[in-house]
Amino acid sequence: MRRKIIAGNWKMYCGTPQEAADLAGQLAKQVGSLTDRDVILCPPFTALAATVQAVKGTNIAVGAQNMYPESKGAFTGEIAPEFLLSLGCTYVIIGHSERRTYFKETNEFINKKVKCALAAGLNPIMCLGETLEERQANKINDVVKDHVQGGLAGMSAAEAAKVVLAYEPVWAIGTGLTAEPKDAEAVHQFIRQVLTDMFDKATAEVIRIQYGGSVKPDNAKTLLTMPNIDGALVGGASLKADSFTGIIKYEG
Ligand code: PGA
Repeated sequence: MRRKIIAGNWKMYCGTPQEAADLAGQLAKQVGSLTDRDVILCPPFTALAATVQAVKGTNIAVGAQNMYPESKGAFTGEIAPEFLLSLGCTYVIIGHSERRTYFKETNEFINKKVKCALAAGLNPIMCLGETLEERQANKINDVVKDHVQGGLAGMSAAEAAKVVLAYEPVWAIGTGLTAEPKDAEAVHQFIRQVLTDMFDKATAEVIRIQYGGSVKPDNAKTLLTMPNIDGALVGGASLKADSFTGIIKYEG
């Protein structure tokens, strides 16, 4: 039985310590004592410390939205995984479609980040998913397979088992369009097949696969009760305590 994992990706919002402390403080009250599912908040770098402080003593974990795949060095403006750990972060989102698109992140670079995060002791949430054009050209499986194989290349089954995957069809992100639960489920099943072929069935069965893309309180239940959907990566709806709580507290 895979434990559900629901993460809020705040993107470039709520980046001041005060805004983050307010939102995280409300969530700490509303969902901080849940023990049957994992809840993670991923604020901008500048709000990580305040968020960690606001959820202290609760079951909520904190993650970053990006990192650089080196421990230290002359990489102006970048953040090492060890720096994130030192703040109390335990997760990091890697390869979000916005980073693939705007910052030209490749599978190869994402693979390096996933390995480096694991080596440092951070739990990576690796994002993948097709664009609308790719979907219309019937290339969903090709793209998903390429992202999974590229992102997890050269890793042992034991390492891969620690990675959380987030299937986020790009056309569903921030658009209000959501994949039909049965269509999302089919892609998640396909991802598990790719993982079985890459590693083995036991490993594929333990890897958690989140769905992301316009998840809201009113569609969370139908998505999250699909057998191969193990959680959600939530953007817009994670920026208000009540809507994020509505997603987190879905009843299966
Ligand atoms: P959205 O974003 O929920 O606003 O669609 C999801 C994401 O980008 O992770």
